[in-house]
Amino acid sequence: MLHHYQNGCWTDNKPAVPPRGGPDGRGPIPPQPLATPGGSVDRYPAPRHGVGRRQNEPAAVLRGCFRGIVVTNQPLCREHYRLTLHVAAFPPSDPGQFIQILCPLAPGAADPPNAVDDGALQAKQWRLGSRPPRFTDPFLTADRPYLRRPYSIAGRRDTSTAAKAAGPRAELDIMYRVIGRATVQLEKLTPGDEVSLLGPLGHGFIRSDHLRRALLIGGGVGVPPILYLAERLASWGIAAVAFIGVQRADLLPLTLIADHPPATDHPIERPCLMEFARHGISSILTTDDGSLGIPGRVTTALRTYLLAHRQFDASSGVPELFCCGPTAMMRAVSQVAAEFSLPCQAALEQPMACGMGTCQSCVMKYRPPGALDWVYKLTCTDGPVFHTADIIWS
Ligand SMILES: Cc1cc2nc3c(=O)[nH]c(=O)nc-3n(C[C@H](O)[C@H](O)[C@H](O)COP(=O)(O)OP(=O)(O)OC[C@H]3O[C@@H](n4cnc5c(N)ncnc54)[C@H](O)[C@@H]3O)c2cc1C
Ligand code: FES
Repeated sequence: MLHHYQNGCWTDNKPAVPPRGGPDGRGPIPPQPLATPGGSVDRYPAPRHGVGRRQNEPAAVLRGCFRGIVVTNQPLCREHYRLTLHVAAFPPSDPGQFIQILCPLAPGAADPPNAVDDGALQAKQWRLGSRPPRFTDPFLTADRPYLRRPYSIAGRRDTSTAAKAAGPRAELDIMYRVIGRATVQLEKLTPGDEVSLLGPLGHGFIRSDHLRRALLIGGGVGVPPILYLAERLASWGIAAVAFIGVQRADLLPLTLIADHPPATDHPIERPCLMEFARHGISSILTTDDGSLGIPGRVTTALRTYLLAHRQFDASSGVPELFCCGPTAMMRAVSQVAAEFSLPCQAALEQPMACGMGTCQSCVMKYRPPGALDWVYKLTCTDGPVFHTADIIWS
């Protein structure tokens, strides 16, 4: 029987217990060291797994809790916005990693009774001697987002400010679709507002040693990590083509280039989307209702494209697939990848609560390469990026 949860899966092995202090080994467990501090509050160690960036390269070493200052919060289409945040000393991040944003409270939302602001963003402390909270208190029954919400990093620019004392700053882009109580509040942010964010979290896409050509597949709210990946691939000089699928033309969160309308018939690469074209990447656009680009599913266009390009040019190498979007779309991409024997990675967007491996709300079934049995993995800390061949999609 499996007893212990260790390193993201259930195991028979007893977890390693840190040695106790004291001469006879019976004293309290000494505090465990945390990651190097610098520029943020509440730092905690990153997970041990070495995925992300180049194969065999160590993962990002730092993550933490930061204040993000809103630079812009612009509508992109009917339901999507781009939020740009200034964050001081944000650690290195990889495409596929995400941040957890504490979405602001609705104006006038009740605060805990007898609570005082402790100086940290939206954090409260109880006044000594005050009564404990009750489940019927208005601040607990109010319609408000208690949990942080995860958002993929959609882009990043690092600036060293002229005033050296202020230190390095990152400008982080996220793109969000307004669908519920937290995103309704995000929509109201204006330049200068502050939000609390945790990050960078999870592990990003892996760059294999064989990567020469990438096919990027983004659907709906899965477009943001694909944009960040496009930016990184361009900096590495890796050729890529983007396949973008949305439900309708008015839900496309990207900019069309007027001179280069998207192909409407066959999946022909065109520099039709500004966000990819600026990195020298051509795109193929599909809409479910046929209101723009090729009618139908993005996976159908991908399959047609691969059939037409079956004879992979030896110099350009076998293309590798990278995808993010609704689960059904990623499952379909995974099937296409299997059909053409192509490597494929997916950034899962499983609903999650803590984002840090504590609550176990984001488990997914994972079959390690070559193994018969599957194990549970945590999407937040073991992923969100996995090789699709290792994912059990049920
Ligand atoms: C790793 C990761 C990265 C993400 N990146 C982005 C991103 O870049 N942009 C973006 O817009 N969204 C992203 N999401 C999803 C995002 O976190 C949710 O859209 C957000 O939490 C919605 O909050 P809300 O309070 O507005 O909606 P809620 O009130 O929490 O939910 C509204 C409705 O959406 C459903 N829902 C919420 N989250 C998910 C989910 N993850 N999958 C399927 N259904 C869901 C709920 O069940 C509910 O029906 C990401 C999720 C994960 C796990
Ligand atoms: S979200 Fe809490 S463990 Fe993954």
